[in-house]
Amino acid sequence: MQILVTGGAGYIGTHTCVALLAAGHQVVVLDNFSNSQPQALARVEQISGQSVRLYQGDVGDASLLQQIFAEQQIDAVIHFAGAKAVGESVELPLFYYRNNVTASQTLIETMTACGVKTLVFSSSATVYGDPHTVPIVEDFPLLPTNPYGRSKLMVEQIIGDHCASPKTQGFTGIVLRYFNPVGAHPSGLIGEDPNGIPNNLMPFIAQVAIGRRPELSVFGDDYPTIDGTGVRDYIHVCDLAEGHVRAVEKLHGNYGCHVFNLGTGSGISVLQMVQAYAAACGRDIPYRFVARRAGDVAQYFADPTKAREVLGWQATRDLNDMVASSWHWQSTNPAGYSSTKD
Ligand code: WQD
Repeated sequence: MQILVTGGAGYIGTHTCVALLAAGHQVVVLDNFSNSQPQALARVEQISGQSVRLYQGDVGDASLLQQIFAEQQIDAVIHFAGAKAVGESVELPLFYYRNNVTASQTLIETMTACGVKTLVFSSSATVYGDPHTVPIVEDFPLLPTNPYGRSKLMVEQIIGDHCASPKTQGFTGIVLRYFNPVGAHPSGLIGEDPNGIPNNLMPFIAQVAIGRRPELSVFGDDYPTIDGTGVRDYIHVCDLAEGHVRAVEKLHGNYGCHVFNLGTGSGISVLQMVQAYAAACGRDIPYRFVARRAGDVAQYFADPTKAREVLGWQATRDLNDMVASSWHWQSTNPAGYSSTKD
């Protein structure tokens, strides 16, 4: 199939492009490079030995989307493009709703008008909010607690309603709820390259390990968890990428809305991650305990049964694969894709 990947120059986007190309598909990328680097696509081509057709621009630009669908025979769209910082979403909700929700609606409308009927949507476990228990199953209550999570839920609902409409002439919506993507492609050529100070744990630890940050602040040590620190379902980005390939191959043409958790089903604490990273890089990771971060929950991890039973997919890479691949990427690319990092 030929797949349009929006946000294809981003962290998960590049890894998914590599996985799609490895599976024999063709890739067209739409990216505005607001939170990614063109160099990342050159690395995708280097890894795959294949070319990637690039359109630079915004998902909300209907005329650009119409041009892409007219010029390229697109069988399905994988939609990553969007803003994803929880804290930023609290400060700039209108930007998040325009960038994540309005743009996604424009994409769905234009796909439908142009006869492109399969959409894989990059959603997030954040739609669950603070779960009443773990592991989390897809039919749990959807109670996001921030504008970012609400923007993801709104798009899920738009997709579900579009699929359910009797006026819709067959549309396949595949909603993938990511838990915590980490790690990097084993080549060390692509990886996570956040702008500014990393919000997320793994890239922050990586920058401490490489010497770009003096120490890690651990947000709380009094949670009701194995060691008092936050527990999350970290999933290797290559497992996540392969999950996208499997989903689009398995469900293309299967009209309706399909929702899956993409996680490992097990939880890892902040301290366990720090210890694993230190062992992988052979360096001490200095840290100190500080106050809890607003909005954090004690623990969440996925029940990945549905993806395993319906898609025939499950994560296969373990914690050591995650930290070792992250370190390989970070140590061979100390400043990410460009030397203009802070
Ligand atoms: C993980 C754990 C922190 C940084 C977020 C988004 C979610 C998704 C993934 C987009 C927590 C602790 C972190 C640090 C720390 N993003 N931590 N010091 O919050 O589970 O999920 O990223 O889809 O939507 O909400 O991930 O990596 O920020 O935090 O102690 O400097 O690490 O408290 O327990 P999170 P995270």
